[in-house]
Amino acid sequence: MLKLAVCVSGGGTNLQAIIDGIADGTITDTEISLVFSNNKNAYAIERAKKAGIRAEVRSPKDYEKREDFNKEFLAVLKSANPDLIVLAGCLVVLPKELIDEYPNKIINIHPSLIPAFCGKGFYGLKVHEKALERGVKVSGATVHFVDAGTDTGPIILQKPVMVEENDTPEVLQRRIMEQAEWKIMPEAINLIAHNKVKVVDGKVKIV
Ligand code: GRF
Repeated sequence: MLKLAVCVSGGGTNLQAIIDGIADGTITDTEISLVFSNNKNAYAIERAKKAGIRAEVRSPKDYEKREDFNKEFLAVLKSANPDLIVLAGCLVVLPKELIDEYPNKIINIHPSLIPAFCGKGFYGLKVHEKALERGVKVSGATVHFVDAGTDTGPIILQKPVMVEENDTPEVLQRRIMEQAEWKIMPEAINLIAHNKVKVVDGKVKIV
């Protein structure tokens, strides 16, 4: 049984896709042990509670020093004894200790086809604004392992989504969520749960 700790900051639609995927059998041999949020107002917390999942909230604002928050963040995650940490719209900069302790055991969903529109400052609507500004005809989403860089870890799955005329960042964001994110996130977790994802020379091989 693959035990997940899912980190969120906002609406939690990707968390919901994972909860639903487990419920409908798209994801098997997997359970969510913990949902962690840095934002007490995140709707993702409600989604976790409704599904009967343990939810913990810790905000960096409530700690005098960042390292105190980092320590607590790490301790809460470890208390769930996760096999995989899933960043599902998580806006917290991960402590280095966490990345070091879970090599190729942390995954993230990014709403573009990496390496386009990624890296520092590319989060939320910004990603889609930049894609539309550039006039790309195709965008999409990427699930990747997390390493010390920003959106630089090995790519697990990607799915393209067509940009349409008159798209706004909000419309494109929604289409990418519906057509790509909510599909490849559950799919990647299911592959990992069944030991089908190997990292060889910094690249993912699906076996
Ligand atoms: C998604 O667009 C995801 O790609 C990005 O943050 C957003 C989270 O949305 N990392 P939600 O909280 O899962 O609804």
